[in-house]
Amino acid sequence: MSSHGEAIPMIARRSSGLSGEAHVPGDKSISHRSLILGAMAVGETRVTGLLEGQDVLDTAKAMRAFGAEVEKRGDTWHVNGVGVGGFAEPEQVIDCGNSGTGVRLIMGAMATTPITATFTGDASLNKRPMARVTDPLALFGAQAVGREGGRLPMTIVGARDPLPVRYATPVPSAQVKSAVLLAGLNAPGETVVIEREATRDHSERMLTGFGAKVVTEETEEGRVITLTGQPELKPQVIVVPRDPSSAAFPVCAALITEGSDVLVPNIGLNPTRAGLFFTLQEMGADLTFENPREEGGEPVADLRARFSPDLKGIEVPAERAASMIDEYPVLSVVASFAEGKTHMPGVKELRVKESDRIDAMATGLRANGVEVDEGEDWWTVHGRGHGNVPGGAETASHLDHRIAMSFLVMGLATTEPVRVDDGGPIATSFPIFEPLMSGLGAVIERL
Ligand code: S3P
Repeated sequence: MSSHGEAIPMIARRSSGLSGEAHVPGDKSISHRSLILGAMAVGETRVTGLLEGQDVLDTAKAMRAFGAEVEKRGDTWHVNGVGVGGFAEPEQVIDCGNSGTGVRLIMGAMATTPITATFTGDASLNKRPMARVTDPLALFGAQAVGREGGRLPMTIVGARDPLPVRYATPVPSAQVKSAVLLAGLNAPGETVVIEREATRDHSERMLTGFGAKVVTEETEEGRVITLTGQPELKPQVIVVPRDPSSAAFPVCAALITEGSDVLVPNIGLNPTRAGLFFTLQEMGADLTFENPREEGGEPVADLRARFSPDLKGIEVPAERAASMIDEYPVLSVVASFAEGKTHMPGVKELRVKESDRIDAMATGLRANGVEVDEGEDWWTVHGRGHGNVPGGAETASHLDHRIAMSFLVMGLATTEPVRVDDGGPIATSFPIFEPLMSGLGAVIERL
């Protein structure tokens, strides 16, 4: 749905020769974190390249509600923070819209401050599990009251005298890890998070940049991350790298669309995020990293993707899942155009994203002529090879931006067009998706 509530039906038609440069927006994960940490620092943080998608705008609004000043002047976002432990009690319910990252990180950030806040979201967010965050926050002394099964709307009563926490995350989740670290900022002593599988480490990197002490050790238990509480966070100048998860769409579109050659410059390639690109290379994609360099503490390169008619299905290693968790929907589209099966194990988390992404993709792929097998934590796409994917069906986006964009990419290379019932959610993470894809030569239209 659009922000006004009506659905935006869309269609993608067979296209050829995508070409040019695709300047995708700023990284969603880093954008949320720069606003939240900026709000917890003392003084003015300046951010350029911020993703101005609805999810991040909702986080900006929330930070204002907790007392920070957040405003855009020219191309720069200025965040005047209130300091660790300085959040004011919001007067209204905090509406995080579609954003799991927004709500979970903000809950963590406020949970060790003696204030109360109530959170809600859209129909998708209000179905998603929050106990994974409120369980560890309870160890700090915060209380949570929500709907059945730990769903939003939910009220958090922040801890008056927070205790530091040692917590092993039961699911691979950067949101849970980050919520615990942000809560640990206002607890005395050392807060420790242990994760068995490495998830995106933007919080650790950015906390260090803001002057907090964060030490990460690789041990037999997994990654042990130790934060020293009650630092004074110093304001930063942040240049947000472009989002690899958004880059995935023009890259995958170029790989499956005949005659394409697309450059996607300046993409953040943090190893905890770049799993898709290595997977595509293993499938035989003509995908190269040009001009690799480091910017703002994150590895960056320009991606060049060319039409790849001889893609092969592969086994995607389960241990790679966390580094490409948001990219499985679009990978399943590329897998449909490969020869042979692509098996994707170890992906239970896909069932609790903005939608159940295995179910949403499997249903839409089958409707468009692609065979898919699935279990609780795995799925297999039976590739039909280039030129053999029928298309022709309408798919449902389930209020999930990545499902909508994946099916629109699919329709660029199917025999018949692919329709999406509602492209409105795309604005949460990639508001310029339509003009950017059209600019490359993709035929994507509103109905
Ligand atoms: C994110 C973590 C991931 C990812 C989401 C962004 C983050 O979620 O799917 O889009 O910024 O920390 P989980 O922590 O639930 O895996």
